[in-house]
Amino acid sequence: MNNYFYLNENKTIKDAFFIFNKAFGCILCVEDKKKRLVGILTEGDLRRAILKGFSIKEKLKEIISKKYTFIYIEELQNKKFVKSNFNAKNLNVSINFIPIINNNNNVIRVLPTTKVIEILEEKSKFKGTSLKPNILIVGGAGYIGTILVKKLLSKNYRVTILDKLIYDKSVISFFKKNKNLKFIKGDICDLNVQINCIRDIDVVVFLAEIVGDPACNAKPEDALKTNYLAVSSFSHLCSLLNISKFIYTSSCSVYGLDKDNNLLNEQSPLNPVSHYARIKIMSEKALLSIKNQNFCPTVLRLGTVFGPSIRDRFDLVVNTFAKFAYFNKKIDIHGGNQWRPNICVEDVADGIIAVIKSNKKKVSNEIFNLSSENLNYRIKDIAKIVRKKFKPININYSNSRQDIRNYRVSCKKFELATNFKAKKTIEYAYDLFLKKFRKKLIKNPNLKKYSNIATIKLFSDKNV
Ligand SMILES: NC(=O)c1ccc[n+]([C@@H]2O[C@H](COP(=O)([O-])OP(=O)(O)OC[C@H]3O[C@@H](n4cnc5c(N)ncnc54)[C@H](O)[C@@H]3O)[C@@H](O)[C@H]2O)c1
Repeated sequence: MNNYFYLNENKTIKDAFFIFNKAFGCILCVEDKKKRLVGILTEGDLRRAILKGFSIKEKLKEIISKKYTFIYIEELQNKKFVKSNFNAKNLNVSINFIPIINNNNNVIRVLPTTKVIEILEEKSKFKGTSLKPNILIVGGAGYIGTILVKKLLSKNYRVTILDKLIYDKSVISFFKKNKNLKFIKGDICDLNVQINCIRDIDVVVFLAEIVGDPACNAKPEDALKTNYLAVSSFSHLCSLLNISKFIYTSSCSVYGLDKDNNLLNEQSPLNPVSHYARIKIMSEKALLSIKNQNFCPTVLRLGTVFGPSIRDRFDLVVNTFAKFAYFNKKIDIHGGNQWRPNICVEDVADGIIAVIKSNKKKVSNEIFNLSSENLNYRIKDIAKIVRKKFKPININYSNSRQDIRNYRVSCKKFELATNFKAKKTIEYAYDLFLKKFRKKLIKNPNLKKYSNIATIKLFSDKNV
């Protein structure tokens, strides 16, 4: 959770009160036009200024105290204070938060004093890291989540996973030795869980949903609850707490059916053909409608994801073909002319990390397609790739039950904003699947845990 926010020194006491009104208990970092810290203020400081006779129109620079506690980030890392205005005496005057600044006096973050003491006493859990943001991944035990968590931990981020573990309870053991990971088992629809998991969080990645058309059709009310109501309520909580970045994974299926095979961009008309896609649009709108200077959502419309994961899914087109080609030596195609954008699960994780690392101005309050123009394929083109990699196999074509979705997308906007381009090919993922299958790491790909719809149906049958 962010405990601080910024205002320019020429803003007024009234402007500051307006911010404190939305964020109780925080501190205000007052900056000059070059974003250098010039002072800090609490709500109490504002009240004291009014009592002294300052008008609410008074500029902040007139009331800030120049004597405030701050620490240079390098000195905190080296635990040796020379230029920082921090010493044991400061601790006697009940300072709750301390700005950590760089050599240009820009605020990197604000730490609770208790955290600074922990770091100095080497009790900090995150000792040795460079104070990277603490990332909450809601749905972090899923297909995309587990790969994202693995990558973030390898980059020394601190990660909290909140997940209900619908599909595979064992995936968490993959990370169990990592000290930078905290796991909370819980349901994001539960308001107590929402409040519990958001403590000390800087960035949220929201992946927890009932995912896919069949699963949402099987449990429409649950889909509405998790995919819309939980996203909406949780984003309001994050807005209240000034969470600086909120990354939401939507889907290119919001484009639904485009009869003209255009290359669709983020401004193109939406034409959803499923409950899943319609709820995605509702959630996108809900998120963007509450954006403000302290809550900056980024919406990523993912193509269909492919490739092996720590939590594998064999209910996604590229992965399903790999499963049938290897284990049954045949694949069935219904229709085959439908266009779909695709993206490797590793590139999804790297794309999300690119947003986490990006300058907020470039990604805030924006919707981006996340796939690649080179990864727009017709289903029958994917079948050709699978045949090459897994030969010999039979391909059966039928027109019995066709998926009417048809869309190709452009991803230029994301590439320009973040410098990230999805490059991993379907061929690359098929090589990884072949290795995994040959090593017998997946013995029975038909287990329910590999399919969202099969698991969700099982839950329905058991009435859980
Ligand atoms: N996989 C794709 O092809 C694809 C494509 C487009 C968009 N997306 C989006 O990406 C996100 C992640 O997809 P995925 O493929 O990793 O799905 P997934 O089903 O593997 O992961 C979802 C995770 O969320 C958890 N979860 C579900 N409901 C929960 C709840 N109420 N509380 C807590 N945890 C809950 C599940 O246990 C699971 O671990 C979703 O928002 C999905 O719509 C995925």
